[in-house]
Amino acid sequence: MASLDLSVIPEHVAIIMDGNGRWAKQRGLPRTIGHNKGVEAVRETVKAAGEAGVKFLTLFAFSSENWSRPESEIEALLGLLRRFIRRDLADLHRENVRIRIIGERDNLRGDILPLLLEAEETTRNNTAMTLVIAFNYGSRNEIARAVAKIAADVAAGFIAPDAVDAEMISRRLDTADIPDPDLIIRTSGEERLSNFLLWQAAYSELVFLPCYWPDFDRQQFEEALRIFASRDRRFGGLSPATTAVVG
Ligand code: FPP
Repeated sequence: MASLDLSVIPEHVAIIMDGNGRWAKQRGLPRTIGHNKGVEAVRETVKAAGEAGVKFLTLFAFSSENWSRPESEIEALLGLLRRFIRRDLADLHRENVRIRIIGERDNLRGDILPLLLEAEETTRNNTAMTLVIAFNYGSRNEIARAVAKIAADVAAGFIAPDAVDAEMISRRLDTADIPDPDLIIRTSGEERLSNFLLWQAAYSELVFLPCYWPDFDRQQFEEALRIFASRDRRFGGLSPATTAVVG
């Protein structure tokens, strides 16, 4: 396998971990076994990302739409998140990983919110990498909450309506002070964003891989980094080679 070009490692990688259910179905297993296996892929990916020099890794763990799944599957997913935080928090803390949570925090059931807050609090001064867990997350909801905060400030007279700009919205999103993702990976062959980081993805490179999430590993991660390295990012401008010819 070709070695990684470390000069173009993305600062922020975000992942839509898709295909746990299909992975299990293919093997005649219950969907929850696919999610269990998915947690192993999470562990390997966190390690691989840290070693590659990625500074922010965002994982779409539970969407605001996932509440419509059967109660047994919701409980299984919440159980995995609980166990991940309880069992892996000490390791992540030792590895100097900071945990951040994005998503709607109101009305979360039971012990989930205190657990998420504890993970954020314990790791708040860590600096090696930030693991952002998108939980109860939906991009449109996040943008609506940011706009509501601005509307309240406008109504209170703190902000003039014509002073509202994109930067002001960015600073009120759950991802305020987290750079936009350079690379978004989605597994399972589906090619859409499904209400994930819609605002932040304006200039992200999108990489869709055919493998199901439980089969995602270090090799798959590095393959996505290689595809990213081969892309020509222009952010709406011209590539340097073209600029040299034109200019
Ligand atoms: C998509 O597969 C995956 C999810 C809805 C949940 C992802 C969660 C985990 C991997 C475990 C918990 C996360 C952490 C960070 C510990 P799907 O069920 O939509 O698969 P399908 O599309 O094949 O049905």
